[in-house]
Amino acid sequence: MVRAALLTAPGRPLELVEIDLPAPGPGQVRVKLAAAGVCHSDLSLATGLLRAATPVVLGHEGSGTVTAVGEGVTSVRPGDAVVLNWAPACGSCHLCSLGEPWLCENSAGASTEPYAALADGTGVHPGLGVAAFAEETLVAERALIPLPDGVPLAAAALLGCAVLTGYGAVHNAARVRAGESVVVLGLGGVGLAVLQAARIAGAGPIVAVDVTPEKEELARRHGATDFLLSDERTAKGVRQLTGGHGADHAFECAGRASTIRTAWSATRRGGRTTVVGIGGKEDLVSFSALEVFYFARTLSACVYGNSDPVKDVPVLAEHVRAGRLDLESLITDRITLDEIPAAFDRMAAGRGGRSLVVF
Ligand code: APR
Ligand code: ZN
Ligand code: ZN
Repeated sequence: MVRAALLTAPGRPLELVEIDLPAPGPGQVRVKLAAAGVCHSDLSLATGLLRAATPVVLGHEGSGTVTAVGEGVTSVRPGDAVVLNWAPACGSCHLCSLGEPWLCENSAGASTEPYAALADGTGVHPGLGVAAFAEETLVAERALIPLPDGVPLAAAALLGCAVLTGYGAVHNAARVRAGESVVVLGLGGVGLAVLQAARIAGAGPIVAVDVTPEKEELARRHGATDFLLSDERTAKGVRQLTGGHGADHAFECAGRASTIRTAWSATRRGGRTTVVGIGGKEDLVSFSALEVFYFARTLSACVYGNSDPVKDVPVLAEHVRAGRLDLESLITDRITLDEIPAAFDRMAAGRGGRSLVVF
């Protein structure tokens, strides 16, 4: 039996339960978690903003050690350190064959099959195919990324979502170049990772925007050169900081229509907005037909930072080893499995950076 934080239905508090996790079947791998980050998408799944089959073990940003492998598994062995990948690509669908594996149509995260059971036999679903809010998990072999040397195992959990997403948004999706100006709206784990990635790209100025003033110090530590509070004057403030033009790039990391709109308005004529946050179905953004034409801006979204985790995690690891990417300062709270609800509360209140469950 394995201890896990279970969501029985959207809107219910997480419950600590014991789950019965089977031995790995063909192509499966069992992993003992070292750490799991608490991401806003977990909160959105817990509240019902995003949908998941229940009961479910959430958590999709994890790292750990392989404990057992099923038949036919060749890429990892017991004892190997791994990062969990919530969007493992099949390699053969239409979008994989176009070279966009982050949009894979057969991603294991889309699986609706139970992976474990409660004591009474009820099937339990793996959140985003990963189920990292548990002492151990069972995943498909392709949902594992071998951890490169020189990255501390627990902090490496963040590579599995926030950092891969934030770094990829800057380097794969927007392709920020040295000297370009950047504005980042929403400074949770993802937005802070975007700031660090913009710093690595040599961008400047790097303007950080959030609703709470306490984020300023955190933002500056992650590479922001300026900080603005989020309100109706934000776009104007960004223009003032960029020679009156607006930023070359905006990154929306709050998951709201209003911040998508502000991000777009804060870019220069011909500028680019990259939406990273996941917002609600009813939350609408509006643009006039004339301004869409006149400003000739680009608005696009990225999934998992348009990353290929197998190729990109080694790149991130190199940045960590060289001291350019600081995973440690993203982690503002180290918690236990029963403290995830408090981490959700901090997140909903816009406090702190990443909370990391350490097992
Ligand atoms: N303007 C600016 N910032 C805002 C606003 C706003 N109107 N509303 C909320 N924020 C800030 C919060 O204060 C918080 O600092 O956005 C930040 C979001 O951070 P987290 O809740 O920690 O979320 P994170 O895990 O970083 O994820 C960000 O990416 O993967 C998606 O679903 C995820 O949509 C979420 C986004
Ligand atoms: Zn996430
Ligand atoms: Zn595919």
